Amino acid sequence: MARYAAITGTGSYLPEKILTNFDLEKIVDTNDEWIRQRTGIVERRIAEPDMATSDLCVRAARQAIKMAEIDPLDIDMIMVCTVTPDSFFPSTACYVQQGIGAKNAYAFDLSAACAGFIYGLDLADGMIRSGRYQTILVIGGEVFNKIIDWTDRNTCVLFGDAAGAAIVQGTDAAKGILASYVGSDGDYADVDLLGMPAGGSRLPASHETVDQKLHTIKMRGREVFKLGVRIMPEAAQRVLDLAGVTIDDIDLFIPHQANARIIEAVRDRLGFDPEKVYVNVDKYGNTSAATTIIALDEAIREGRAKTGDLILMVTFGAGLTWGSTVIRL
Ligand code: ACO
Repeated sequence: MARYAAITGTGSYLPEKILTNFDLEKIVDTNDEWIRQRTGIVERRIAEPDMATSDLCVRAARQAIKMAEIDPLDIDMIMVCTVTPDSFFPSTACYVQQGIGAKNAYAFDLSAACAGFIYGLDLADGMIRSGRYQTILVIGGEVFNKIIDWTDRNTCVLFGDAAGAAIVQGTDAAKGILASYVGSDGDYADVDLLGMPAGGSRLPASHETVDQKLHTIKMRGREVFKLGVRIMPEAAQRVLDLAGVTIDDIDLFIPHQANARIIEAVRDRLGFDPEKVYVNVDKYGNTSAATTIIALDEAIREGRAKTGDLILMVTFGAGLTWGSTVIRL
């Protein structure tokens, strides 16, 4: 039975089309200066109209499979963490299974909003440590542009489309996921705080829901901001304690990329040197379940995260959900 779950491959896919703040100035009453100052976002990627979340996920998964040097038939389980699935059912993960030819896997979606990928890693860790599975594909992927109200300046400037993937494999070497801490607080389960009101069993699609734009994301930004600044440092400290390490031991901190001001507040509360904090929210905006894994993949490919490094990842999202993990690469 493997004692550790190691990340042996990562990959990501960012759609080619770039939407800048200046492009948004032409769509809603906003401006580049406001968006940069309040969010740190400069541009974001937008998937083509004919692309669904699984199309992005398949591309990211292929890269991760290549880096891990495995055969898709080796994959035992596929988890796609997303709140923008191709369809409610079949799951996005089943479309991904078809796309990569992972015929021996079982596949399902995981819904935990922006915390999805860390939830997925925690599950993969448990499944591998249990001895039942050896190779798991965890993907965070979103096509947010399809659930955005492009007339709402409060939300349309924040989000982007992306997918990131990780191959997690059992190993006896003392590396991989050293500890994780995930949680949720259903007292904050409120679609108007952060969520999409219609399309589910509470409010099925109707002419009225379409007319009222209830199939788009709703958010009370200031409240969400405060929750993020409180919960992320707490989750970070908890997982550091579980792993038996300190801030000084961490080589790279990858926080959820929602807003540069949230990242700065979390960084300062934890006392991180800015050079140890990975930030790419300026290029991609908030890509929800994809943010931490596309950042990890980018850091590995840039050489900022190397074999043996200790990585801390922390995130929070709608639900309320949160998760943190310490990984030895
Ligand atoms: N352009 C210009 N002005 C704007 C824009 C815009 N795009 N958006 C809002 N404003 C205006 C508001 O109308 C308001 O004007 P008023 O003072 O005349 O009423 C003013 O700017 C200030 O608005 P606030 O909402 O107070 O601005 P704030 O500094 O809080 O920033 C923001 C807003 C960026 C949304 C911030 O609150 C935030 O980042 N919140 C967290 C978002 C987040 O992390 N979401 C996570 C989602 S994760 C998931 O699970 C999907």
